Amino acid sequence: MKLHSKRLLAIAQAIAQYKQGTILADIGTDHAYLPCFLYDQGVIEKAYACDVAKGPLVSSKQTIMTHHMEDQIIPLLGNGLDPIVDKEVDMISICGMGGMLMIEILDAHKEMHDHRFFLQANNGLSELRAYLEKHHFHIIDEDLVEDAHHIYEYMIVEKGEMVLDEDDLLFGPINRKKKNNLFRQKWQFELNVQKKIIASLPEGHPKRTQVMKMIKKIEKVLA
Ligand SMILES: C[S@@+](CC[C@H](N)C(=O)[O-])C[C@H]1O[C@@H](n2cnc3c(N)ncnc32)[C@H](O)[C@@H]1O
Repeated sequence: MKLHSKRLLAIAQAIAQYKQGTILADIGTDHAYLPCFLYDQGVIEKAYACDVAKGPLVSSKQTIMTHHMEDQIIPLLGNGLDPIVDKEVDMISICGMGGMLMIEILDAHKEMHDHRFFLQANNGLSELRAYLEKHHFHIIDEDLVEDAHHIYEYMIVEKGEMVLDEDDLLFGPINRKKKNNLFRQKWQFELNVQKKIIASLPEGHPKRTQVMKMIKKIEKVLA
């Protein structure tokens, strides 16, 4: 089986590297590509492919049937972690959605916080990291992947303690240390965006201080 998304492939590789146990729950699975691929590659033995909407569940069933994985990949309809409350699961992936929605999903089931999570939020990463810190998670690793001209961040987290400062929240505590090419690309792009914003704001505009602060932070991390 082939994964056509470079983003999902990077997450699959992270799951292979950091897997804990053999049963995965993929929340917001859409077409169930990630769990089916991981089973095909022998990384997992079983998965719950969960989605809140019926359409994606139909697509998931199609992928599962095409690859004859009906006994191993189980589609479940439901909101966030609800469908797996009574299931034995070793690790949980939540990918391709906003950080605020991810926080809602995590917050609704604090009793499941003792799992290892693979999280790829499309936005709201500072808020997500702040939530994780407050709720006693620890980031094991994080990285970036470029797919279709967009750079995505993903992280592997589990129960533990971490202390994050403002720069850790914004750039990621591990990404800002790794400072790899994609990190530089992402933040160079963001720096250009911020510079355009400041150029468009008249002197004395209340937003200028905030934008200048962001510019200084990015310039410092890229130095
Ligand atoms: C953009 S797709 C991402 C699919 C896949 N995880 C990926 O990364 O490519 C987001 C999926 O999350 C599902 N979703 C949105 N809110 C959800 C929730 N509260 N619980 C479970 N699934 C949700 C949507 O129905 C959709 O199928």
